[in-house]
Amino acid sequence: MANNAKFTTRLGVIAATVGSAVGLGNIWRFPYEAGMHGGGAFLLIYVLFVLLIGVPVVAGEFVIGRYTGENVVGAFKKLKAAPLWHSVAYIGLLSSLLILGFYSVVAGWTLEYIYQAATGFGGAASQEALHAQFDSFTTSGGRQIFWTLLFLAINFFVISRGVQKGIERMSNILMPMLFAILFVFCVNSLFMPGATEGLAFLFHPDFSKIDVSTVLGAMGQAFFSLSVGMGVLMTYASYFSRSTRLISTSVTTAVLDTLVAVMAGVLIFPAVFSFGEAPAAGPRLVFEILPAIFATLPAGSLWAMLFFILLFVAALTSTISLSEVVIAWFVGEWRWSRGKATIVYGIAVALLSSLSSLSFGPLAGFSIFGMNFFDLLDFVSSNIMLPLGGLLIALYTGWKLPRRILRAQLSAPGRDPDAPSPLAVRLIIFSLRFICPLAILAIFLWGLLPH
Ligand code: PFF
Repeated sequence: MANNAKFTTRLGVIAATVGSAVGLGNIWRFPYEAGMHGGGAFLLIYVLFVLLIGVPVVAGEFVIGRYTGENVVGAFKKLKAAPLWHSVAYIGLLSSLLILGFYSVVAGWTLEYIYQAATGFGGAASQEALHAQFDSFTTSGGRQIFWTLLFLAINFFVISRGVQKGIERMSNILMPMLFAILFVFCVNSLFMPGATEGLAFLFHPDFSKIDVSTVLGAMGQAFFSLSVGMGVLMTYASYFSRSTRLISTSVTTAVLDTLVAVMAGVLIFPAVFSFGEAPAAGPRLVFEILPAIFATLPAGSLWAMLFFILLFVAALTSTISLSEVVIAWFVGEWRWSRGKATIVYGIAVALLSSLSSLSFGPLAGFSIFGMNFFDLLDFVSSNIMLPLGGLLIALYTGWKLPRRILRAQLSAPGRDPDAPSPLAVRLIIFSLRFICPLAILAIFLWGLLPH
């Protein structure tokens, strides 16, 4: 896809950006991270990070992307940035690979669960039976690899068809549907016996639960969920037109993304307490709780199928954006055809994901820093690389990029760049210069101290 391709409508811009942001990060990762890190306290810190750091860095990425109209590497070249800043691009490209390495495994789980729903979960409805089923699936090497690779084949097929056709059409219809169905299930959860306990867990912050891992986890989750810190949004913004309003697009994306995560929490935690599952069950949490919820409903298998299909599509619009960073780079800098780029990157991702899909079975014994390969890919990319990318993006846009460019990009089109900036623009710039760098650095340093 040539870099002068543009999203055709305003809805297309929002849908594609929200499509990237909303995915397994909201519905699978948020509840399990919140469950492991004390619920309410995690949610509170997470929301603070989204507002204070997430929104400004999203806007900063948009500025670089739209101003240069380039892929991540091309953008910093065009800006004639010093070599240090080019590392943002390479951190982004590597993050794409690492994230796809575990994300596509979970996306493969959604396919398995569509299949399971279609076959009535083999009759399993109780918590124990669903637990055993998840175990037998995730420890089976072959089945896991099969679904992971099938997911990747679909992803790279869509990618090879280009930006507008592939991404826009799909997300315009299906994202609103996901929203609607989540809402319906949230309401259903509010009538469960464990609703009060579940809601208290999610919304009542227990400050004694806050430690460095809560804060680092919440920061990582904010970056991961917003797809920010690795050039995905920069690449998408290179397809924005001059009339796209960057600040309002960042705020809309953050609000919708956070809403979906909170809705997922409201859906999951009442059920967790109703069924007596541990909130800290980890990556398996959502895949055991959702089928248990569906089993209590009339026409449960149909609901389950619909839900996992929408979850699969939400995952797909996110992996498309993750892949697009690297594809745009191959096409823009290496002058490869889109087809060749797709095949080469597809093979690399397939190899890494196959390996990480074995983390729960044949490679379960293999661990680094107490984490299996899957968790390690997740931890390094979400909690370290994305915040590091975000730190550099904030420093670059806040301190290096000429202020006139930053202001002009952040303001409405046609505004006199010498007129005093609106408050929103000033707040974003202040956060990029001070709040984002200081907060991210402080958390990293805190994480490095002995505990
Ligand atoms: N934000 C996506 C989600 O929440 O599922 C995951 C993701 C997509 C992370 C794109 C990073 C990224 F660049």
